[in-house]
Amino acid sequence: MKKITKAVFPVAGLGSRFLPATKASPKEMMPVVDKPLIQYAVEEAVAAGITDMVFITGRNKRAIEDHFDTAYELEAELAARGKQELLGMVREVVPRHVNCIYIRQPEALGLGHAVLCAQPVVQDEPFAVILADDLIDGEPPIVKQMVDVFRRHQCSILGVQNVPREQTRSYGIVSSTNLEPGVERVNAIVEKPRPEAAPSTLAVVGRYILTPRIFHHLAQVQSGAGGEIQLTDGIAALMQEEQLLAYRFNGIRYDCGAKLGYLQAQVAFGLRHPELRDEFAAYLDSLK
Ligand code: UTP
Repeated sequence: MKKITKAVFPVAGLGSRFLPATKASPKEMMPVVDKPLIQYAVEEAVAAGITDMVFITGRNKRAIEDHFDTAYELEAELAARGKQELLGMVREVVPRHVNCIYIRQPEALGLGHAVLCAQPVVQDEPFAVILADDLIDGEPPIVKQMVDVFRRHQCSILGVQNVPREQTRSYGIVSSTNLEPGVERVNAIVEKPRPEAAPSTLAVVGRYILTPRIFHHLAQVQSGAGGEIQLTDGIAALMQEEQLLAYRFNGIRYDCGAKLGYLQAQVAFGLRHPELRDEFAAYLDSLK
């Protein structure tokens, strides 16, 4: 029985849809209310029992490393001012038993290439991949749901949800047959099909559990759409050798890589933030 102890966070993309905000800092550091996207993603991994966080970073990497590191000056300053609550918050960004590991992706050659960069750390174990710009609100958290499916099936699993047919061009789309409630057996996966060519509307969103065999296939993949090494192409090759499942997770997904999804996340998380919710709800009401 294999256990998932490592999560890979590819954070080396250009984030071009959020320029100029992403000119000097990664999009995964953009906050939803008061927490950066990458922190939500790490908390999701921690909730699934994962202990090793592997960040694939690119240019402007420092903000993420600093965020998960000890901030001596800030902590000293908060302590001197007696701001105990804030001090606790700053210290508890990651629990003490969690390791953060950083690997540099020298060039943004695509998500598949970013995942391949994790091989020296992940080695021969199954692992999770979490795209922090897909913020998914679910209970239990989505990676935990997927780790539970993995425990039973011991194979690669893709997090999927239905999308409107006119949006298939933005996703990897699977064709599948139902295996058990919420779990599909994948027969095919296509990257960004035109709506009329899409085999279904079941889209892969930013959560994956992959077996280490994926590295072999990613190393073989030629650059595809947009000159990038696509994770989807590696998964399509993996599927020829091993069982591949898709899991229809329970949760609401906010596509925070796009402006509209990001704003929707701010509203949803703002409306349940303990300090803000009443005033914020009253403000939104006043706009009607
Ligand atoms: P996206 O397709 O959202 O690309 O990448 P992007 O560059 O981040 O954003 P846009 O489209 O230019 O606005 C999906 C995920 O893969 C990571 C990104 O950081 C994001 O989490 N990624 C992408 C890498 O780590 N390296 C790459 O070469 C490409």
